[in-house]
Amino acid sequence: MPLPTLEGAQVRLRPPAPADYDRIFAWYNDPEVIAPFDRFSVDTFDAFRREIESASDDPASLAPRFVIELREDGRVVGLVGYYLSHPVLTLTDVWYVLGDTSVRGRGLGREAVGLLVDFLFHDEPLERVGATTDVDNTASFRLLEGLGFHREGTIRAGLFHHGRWHDVAVYGVTRPEWTARPRSD
Ligand SMILES: CC(C)(COP(=O)(O)OP(=O)(O)OC[C@H]1O[C@@H](n2cnc3c(N)ncnc32)[C@H](O)[C@@H]1OP(=O)(O)O)[C@@H](O)C(=O)NCCC(=O)NCCS
Repeated sequence: MPLPTLEGAQVRLRPPAPADYDRIFAWYNDPEVIAPFDRFSVDTFDAFRREIESASDDPASLAPRFVIELREDGRVVGLVGYYLSHPVLTLTDVWYVLGDTSVRGRGLGREAVGLLVDFLFHDEPLERVGATTDVDNTASFRLLEGLGFHREGTIRAGLFHHGRWHDVAVYGVTRPEWTARPRSD
């Protein structure tokens, strides 16, 4: 089933379309945009397109599931995704990037991830939605904490990037916590 469009106050999430690919691929090739706190690799454009277009058949795919579009002018400013992150446990993790760095710090990332988590709890039989982030990625973990995610622990030396091993914080929010959270919308 194709993914729907999700409307928020400032942003909407919609599935990526071929017209978005050049813009997204440019972000994928800029390590300072996509991965200041993450590992980085470059694909060919063909491999990148195949990954996006086969994602709906692959629950573990790391391809973007939605682009983040500004409601005010329709500009595509970022990406969000979710993936089954463990072969045995029922762990679905979300990820998020504002590729357009000029719109960071305005609450758009948090709104986009909130829409995604709402969608996952509404459409999937999940009891928990998770995320992992480099312990030094303050914007990322504050985004999660502001949405009501809890820091559940730290994976030591779990991620290699920028020439060394980094500790990774594990975050999660359960369905009852998400349902009970105070909402402004
Ligand atoms: C993480 C990211 C999506 C955040 O999006 P954003 O729209 O800029 O974030 P928001 O404006 O919603 O702010 C979320 C929280 O982070 C804080 N924050 C935002 N940018 C920050 C920065 N550069 N340094 C420290 N804190 C920051 C905000 O103050 C807010 O916290 P608060 O409400 O407790 O004050 C964006 O910084 C990004 O794309 N980073 C690169 C990719 C990345 O690291 N993704 C996460 C991988 S796990």
